[in-house]
Amino acid sequence: MSEIKNKLSLEPYKGTRDFYPKEQFVQNYIFSVWKKVCESYGYLEYNASILEETELYKSKSGEEIVNEQTYSFTDRGGRNVTIRPEMTPTVARMVAQKRKELTFPLRWFSVPNLFRYERPQRGRLREHWQLNADMFGVDGMEADVEVISLAHSIMKGFGAKDSDFNIRISNRKLTTFLLKEFFRLDEDKTYKVFKLIDKMKKLPESEFKEALEKVVGEIFEELYKTLKSENLESLNQEVLNSEGGKQVKELFEKLNKLGINNLVFDFSIVRGFDYYTGTVFEVYDTSPENNRALFGGGRYDDLVGIFGVEKVPGIGFGMGDVTMRDFLETHALMPEYKPAVKLYICHLEGCLDAASSLGSYLRELGINVSVDLTNRKVSLQVKAADREKIPYVLVVGEEEVKTGKFKVKNLKDSSEIEVEKEKIVELIK
Ligand code: HAM
Repeated sequence: MSEIKNKLSLEPYKGTRDFYPKEQFVQNYIFSVWKKVCESYGYLEYNASILEETELYKSKSGEEIVNEQTYSFTDRGGRNVTIRPEMTPTVARMVAQKRKELTFPLRWFSVPNLFRYERPQRGRLREHWQLNADMFGVDGMEADVEVISLAHSIMKGFGAKDSDFNIRISNRKLTTFLLKEFFRLDEDKTYKVFKLIDKMKKLPESEFKEALEKVVGEIFEELYKTLKSENLESLNQEVLNSEGGKQVKELFEKLNKLGINNLVFDFSIVRGFDYYTGTVFEVYDTSPENNRALFGGGRYDDLVGIFGVEKVPGIGFGMGDVTMRDFLETHALMPEYKPAVKLYICHLEGCLDAASSLGSYLRELGINVSVDLTNRKVSLQVKAADREKIPYVLVVGEEEVKTGKFKVKNLKDSSEIEVEKEKIVELIK
């Protein structure tokens, strides 16, 4: 027999997580808020496989994600396959495929797990779950307004206050106008500056300015000043009155009318993917302890068109579970853990059968029950329930079997009520 040289690792694969029940509880909570708020806006749930042909990501996702961050392999039939790093190309493919049968505007959401080969760090892992909420078929600003207000409502759905986060908005058309028309940069330089702006918040100021100067030359100071300004009104009139400028103004006005005021105009928001065409936005945590982007999205009017079909405008966002957890922790908004099981049935010697049949009876009436299957002391059975945070226990002994009455104990406040079998459900519910 071959000798086992290295012990098998107990750790999950680098950058992925195991979800023990308490973590899964938080995960389910996050998903349930996502689903509830999306459905309240009329969004329908869809899904797809985690595997896609690699080609799908090549044309529009952007070089960094395709070349450096995907998990790709060749299957046994020689096809190039990628484990999805994002959902947008998939949903665009699905819309393109059935565009003739679908009723527009489409409002869709999904919570896929996505895989990116990244250096794991706070807020970044190799596998995360991401709410994708997208609307297709509306090219007016109403769609941008709705999608951003959906994002805002989701934050509120988690109990966040307006001061806990802000929504940083820009517009690719506006940035393109600024770079190409106002600063007269050519196509190549404009693309390079876009990629640089995407790193603006991550790089030290001096490093960013140096890199900017390398691309644009002596106008870099003036350009930098404009990019730093968070005041839309202070922009040059020509820039402000460009198509993108007007769109941003309209978006701000309409969101303000809906009572959404935690908005910031921010040129540094361009987003990494190449497919965005108009509005782009990112939601930031305002707490100094977690001052980072929580999620983001934007408008992508040309993505469906890459499949060789007529264009269908799209807009949406992706909101990750990892950053959401950090946000909930930072703002003390984590839900208290509650297991799905409500009652733990303990038993004295010789009464396990009676305990089991009581369990079956209660389950049929719709409560989640677990029965202790050991022969340990009753005090240890109760302790096990308490450790698992199960709210109620009862003990089945000969007396209870005889009388059909049970003392149901609330483990939180140690109160105890004796009730007949038929009344247990009422008490617990
Ligand atoms: P993204 O900015 O790459 O956009 O990701 C959106 C969000 O997903 C991030 O802000 C973050 O919350 C989360 N996220 C992304 N990568 C990771 C990671 N490695 N670890 C943990 N969380 C992560 C997109 O993916 C676009 N496809 C979103 C979109 C939908 N745009 C329009 N519709």
